[in-house]
Amino acid sequence: MQGQESNSPADPLLSRHLPRHIAIIMDGNGRWAQRRGLDRTVGHREGVKALKPIVKEAARLGIEVLTAYAFSTENWRRPSQEIDVLMGLLVEFLASETPELKEEGVRIRTIGDIRKLPLSAQQSLNWAMTETSQQRRLILNLALNYGGRDEILRAVNSWRHQTPEGTELTEAELNRYLDTAGLPDPDLLIRSSGEFRLSNFLLWQLAYAEIYISDKLWPDFGPADLQAAIRDYQTRHRRFGGLG
Ligand code: FPP
Repeated sequence: MQGQESNSPADPLLSRHLPRHIAIIMDGNGRWAQRRGLDRTVGHREGVKALKPIVKEAARLGIEVLTAYAFSTENWRRPSQEIDVLMGLLVEFLASETPELKEEGVRIRTIGDIRKLPLSAQQSLNWAMTETSQQRRLILNLALNYGGRDEILRAVNSWRHQTPEGTELTEAELNRYLDTAGLPDPDLLIRSSGEFRLSNFLLWQLAYAEIYISDKLWPDFGPADLQAAIRDYQTRHRRFGGLG
């Protein structure tokens, strides 16, 4: 079935349980470019291009949420020229792809502290989120200036400021204060480029996620690779700590 994109009832991918929420660490843009003797930023440009077919495939398959790690709280340590390119690519991506994503029923939202992004990026995000707010097929959740530890700290601090002293914090209550409030936890985490690391991504929410590592560098990761990851997920036996 590799590479097939039919959604006929005979498609084995669709006849078995699908992950509701897939989280992706889009790693390997820099290496993709360096292997070709190109500037790292060319790899990021190709990386952005690779995202749309994945979003469309996820929507076609009936995945509810796709969370993509686009910029971490640690990525500010990169050279300012690379950061500027990434922010520019985000603005370009939103301007050029939002109309088509809207047509496909995609709602764009974010996790992470976007108030620290350049104003142009914040404005583009606010526009894209408003524009797609009524779409219900797939949530494309862009993780921007996102770090799992930062998210947990922001959540705990805002809970503490809004809660009478002496109240115990529960799992359900913390969930309500996280950036992912209202979303199911990811069932499947995909990381490209063969690295086995979480890189501060969704530390709380990935507690029971199945993990799939692809050797492909992100710009080479396509819908067939997404299908392969889902097929692999469908062979897993999830026990959530029980004996199942
Ligand atoms: C990792 O590659 C990738 C990133 C730090 C950014 C991921 C961003 C994109 C795919 C594009 C941004 C998305 C949008 C929507 C604007 P790396 O640079 O760490 O690669 P390397 O590990 O090979 O150096």
